[in-house]
Amino acid sequence: MMDAVILGASGYGGGELLRLLSGHPLLRSLRGSSRQHAGKPFHTAHPNLRGVVNGAFTAEISFGELAGSEQPVVFAALPHGELAQALPGLEAAWEAAGLAERLLLVDLSGDFRLADPAVFQAAYGRPHPCPERLGSFAYGLPEWNREALRGTRRIASAGCFATALQLALLPLRGLDLGFIAASAATGSSGSGMAPSDTTHHPTRAQDFRAYKVLDHQHLAEVQAMMGRQGIGGRLGFVPQSAPLVRGIFAAVQFALPPGLDAAGLRARAEAAFQGSPFVRMVEGSPRVAAVTGSNFADLGVAAKGGTGCVLAAIDNLVKGMAGQAIQCMNLALGLEEGTGLMQPGCWP
Ligand SMILES: NC(=O)c1ccc[n+]([C@@H]2O[C@H](COP(=O)([O-])OP(=O)(O)OC[C@H]3O[C@@H](n4cnc5c(N)ncnc54)[C@H](OP(=O)(O)O)[C@@H]3O)[C@@H](O)[C@H]2O)c1
Repeated sequence: MMDAVILGASGYGGGELLRLLSGHPLLRSLRGSSRQHAGKPFHTAHPNLRGVVNGAFTAEISFGELAGSEQPVVFAALPHGELAQALPGLEAAWEAAGLAERLLLVDLSGDFRLADPAVFQAAYGRPHPCPERLGSFAYGLPEWNREALRGTRRIASAGCFATALQLALLPLRGLDLGFIAASAATGSSGSGMAPSDTTHHPTRAQDFRAYKVLDHQHLAEVQAMMGRQGIGGRLGFVPQSAPLVRGIFAAVQFALPPGLDAAGLRARAEAAFQGSPFVRMVEGSPRVAAVTGSNFADLGVAAKGGTGCVLAAIDNLVKGMAGQAIQCMNLALGLEEGTGLMQPGCWP
């Protein structure tokens, strides 16, 4: 049985972790931190949890209370940079509580996804506060890194755009493609709960724009995966802001290598995701609404006139975040990867 702690439980990712973990068959207890909601029930920040997920936020987590825990699991759903700063203090607290050996840490931020300090600095525009720890977390995208997640105690769950793009690229394993054009549109929940000019409803609901054009920090994660999976080619990525609350829709286009047609592309995708319970192949275009609220990623392929295309739809807060973190946790703990996560999304 596991005792779960969520650091940053009042945020959008924290709310999804509370919702999904509450249905996990091995859950024994659930704790969540928040500075703004400390002392208040979880449903004050997440009204969907009222009467279902009981408990209250605390400003700090008392790890001593978990000393008898068979399997402590900490999810960090904090803004970028916060876990990297807090980690030495947290590890000292886990050591003092006798938890250090068995505690599993799953980070949802970008703090530990990249192994190379220079690549981190280039992607995030600042040096990493503890560069010696980079590379000590397993990268959390089970669809290509499953074996590295089994039994590990440190996981850096993949970014939301990075998840959609990597799932679209994995069928291209071993191909040298020259140039790959990628775009992905995200919903406003991708920016977290703090309102800003670009997430405020009136300025966003009827708009569609690109941002961080060719310069999004998730490119570094995707390029690292491409290197390891033998996908050759320069990747151009245009992130877009869609008038949705949840969801990411990604499109990846490339010149088809000689001899590869639509059937071949589909066969590659089916082979790439054999044994991956959350990737579903669809005919035509995947639909964001069909995966919303779920951990599924729907993929479609097309090929015509020498151009190939792979399309992917995910829920940024589930397969792009909280659901993926739990999927990774399941693997680390030796459970079936889909434990507690196999529910379909809502429709329409
Ligand atoms: N949203 C997505 O689609 C998505 C997808 C993948 C990964 N991520 C990453 O996951 C992390 C969480 O994202 P989110 O969207 O859930 O963010 P969020 O909605 O802004 O929530 C952040 C949480 O952290 C707490 N917090 C904020 N500043 C803090 C600080 N200085 N120290 C301690 N706690 C602090 C907040 O609560 P209090 O202020 O009450 O303490 C809140 O609970 C981010 O690193 C994000 O980049 C997000």
